[in-house]
Amino acid sequence: MQHILEVKDVHKSYGNIEVLKGISFTMDHGETKVIIGTSGTGKSTLLRCINQLDPPDKGEIWLGGEEITHRSKNINRIRQKIGFVFQDFNLFNHLTALKNVSIGLEKVTGMDKEKAKARAMQELQRVGLEKQAHQYPAQLSGGQKQRVGIARALAMDPVVILFDEPTSALDPELIGEVLEVMKGLAGKVAMLVVTHEMGFARNVADDIIFMEGGVVVESGPPAQMFTNPKFSRTKEFLGKIATLYGEEGGKKHSL
Ligand SMILES: Nc1ncnc2c1ncn2[C@@H]1O[C@H](COP(=O)(O)OP(=O)(O)O)[C@@H](O)[C@H]1O
Ligand SMILES: [Mg+2]
Repeated sequence: MQHILEVKDVHKSYGNIEVLKGISFTMDHGETKVIIGTSGTGKSTLLRCINQLDPPDKGEIWLGGEEITHRSKNINRIRQKIGFVFQDFNLFNHLTALKNVSIGLEKVTGMDKEKAKARAMQELQRVGLEKQAHQYPAQLSGGQKQRVGIARALAMDPVVILFDEPTSALDPELIGEVLEVMKGLAGKVAMLVVTHEMGFARNVADDIIFMEGGVVVESGPPAQMFTNPKFSRTKEFLGKIATLYGEEGGKKHSL
């Protein structure tokens, strides 16, 4: 079967610092992959390379069998197919939750206003926010804002959604509701998730990618990564995370 996403030997430097030193992996339909690694290791850079916010210097990205790193490609058309959920939500503060979700459909895909509104409402329902549809971001909690961010990504019918530490900016008691929504999407939408939430990684991910120093040190299913990692660096990192965030990456929520 064709992979929906293929990252092939991606390199990226800023000045003379090489941040990504040849990253390769694939994703299949409905798959959830979690990327873990210390701060500054290039996780956000990798996500930005994938959606071409910051194109790689070398290597290729293939989306649904099409090379998107090719110079001739229409970047806006490609970005529509790659959802992005940001750590700090990136919502428009002057627009309601509903409008935050529908505006992309109207402006980017040219969908008729009423149809876009109906679709946006559907996605808000999916993340449990139909009652908050007409509220503005300032009236929403952090967890609700992030769920709007997820609804906005879903509305575009993406091939894959990239999540960059989606719960890192949230108060601990709000993390669970966002992880629950993401868990509900697992298997239905392909998700590439940078997170320190080890409970989510252990229980929801199909695969975990451990990055360090700009390379993938090790990847594999959670059972292998958590109980029998091949490399001592993986074990050390997971140990550190357990100390920092609790054994399950956060004991406050059930994931
Ligand atoms: N736009 C940029 N310009 C210069 N350096 C950058 C830029 N973006 C990231 N970096 C550097 O690249 C390294 C990796 O950053 P990042 O991808 O944000 O790591 P992570 O998300 O794993 O914490 C860091 O050293 C960071 O300072
Ligand atoms: Mg980052």
